[in-house]
Amino acid sequence: MNLKTLKNVNLNGKRVLMRVDLNVPIKDGKVQDDTRIRAILPTLNHILKSGASLALLTHLGRPKGRKVESLKTDVIQKQLEDLIEKSVKKVDGCVEDFVKKEVLSLKKGEILLLENIRFYPEEKENDKSFSEKLAISFDLFVNDAFGALHRAHASTEGVTHHLPSFAGFLIEKEIKILSGILISPQRPLCLIVGGAKIDTKIGVLERFIDIADEFLIGGALANTFLASMGLYLGDSLFQKEKIDVANKFLKATKSNNKRCILPEDIVISAEITNEAKAFNVDVSELKEGMKILDIGKLTIEKFKKSLSRSKTIIWNGPMGLYEYAPFEGGTREIIKAIADSDAETIVGGGDSIDALKKYDYKVSDFTHVSTGGGAMLEYLEGKELPALKALQS
Ligand code: 3PG
Repeated sequence: MNLKTLKNVNLNGKRVLMRVDLNVPIKDGKVQDDTRIRAILPTLNHILKSGASLALLTHLGRPKGRKVESLKTDVIQKQLEDLIEKSVKKVDGCVEDFVKKEVLSLKKGEILLLENIRFYPEEKENDKSFSEKLAISFDLFVNDAFGALHRAHASTEGVTHHLPSFAGFLIEKEIKILSGILISPQRPLCLIVGGAKIDTKIGVLERFIDIADEFLIGGALANTFLASMGLYLGDSLFQKEKIDVANKFLKATKSNNKRCILPEDIVISAEITNEAKAFNVDVSELKEGMKILDIGKLTIEKFKKSLSRSKTIIWNGPMGLYEYAPFEGGTREIIKAIADSDAETIVGGGDSIDALKKYDYKVSDFTHVSTGGGAMLEYLEGKELPALKALQS
């Protein structure tokens, strides 16, 4: 891939617009996890040290083209200032004349954080004149928003038609690692997926029939596969309309001699609370009025065995409803197994990152923790990412 990178780009005296993905989890007005903020620092520092001034642009949440007070970027401003020990200016807009004035008054080495770009409906519409307005005060555009590469929005794709555009170091790093796995992974390669829905994961699962050696499927996602085998699911979450898709995948793994391990025992309960009474039963023993909420002990052991013989592990999505104590065992044990493994370990997805933080693991406990959720899955799936295409020569 001929990615236009910052190598040999003269930034001195330039006004740089940098798109980042600081779509971070926020609770009570505070950033819960700063992984995505830390991840842009190499590019940010490089730009500032090169004698440029910098405006940062991000989305936060899904405000649907309206201003939402709790999704203003002010909360990120404070966190970023603490991390870089430098003051960050903030402006309550992205394209207005007062923003232009602020941008033009920036000195070398100064940073200005713009408002949440998704407050503008034109962002998602990839409106041409809006992209032009975004670009107008700048000399060049750097995209380091790996997590938003699958979105063809004004600030990710549109703006590249109006400014010389380059990929930042984070995008370079993510693509290097993920493409390396697609091209020449260390084997055996194990893909372990969980989470709620089959829709977002099935594309990767299907593509990996040619790439992975082994599949481990947990979370509510596994329920649709269990349903395709004719098992009774009671009140458990599953996608009835996707049973055929699940069935087709299981057949394809068989005919391609790939091992696919589904839960053989499960944790079930009638209620979802921290005090809920939970039972570990065989998949065939789900009782009426109960839901599947985690993988069971035998399944955990089987998954661990498989992970221990793998040389590459890609993990996306929790194994159960880990937010509640009675259903966290599967996710916690699997994270431990992945973190302890000597394999190349790749983790992606917001819930997976949230879970590893919950159990006190660090990004450095894994080979690579991707900052992309949907973007990572779509890249691995082999889909064309519009904002990435826009950074190629
Ligand atoms: C993410 O969190 O995966 C990215 O920031 C993209 O967010 P979106 O799914 O709201 O476009």
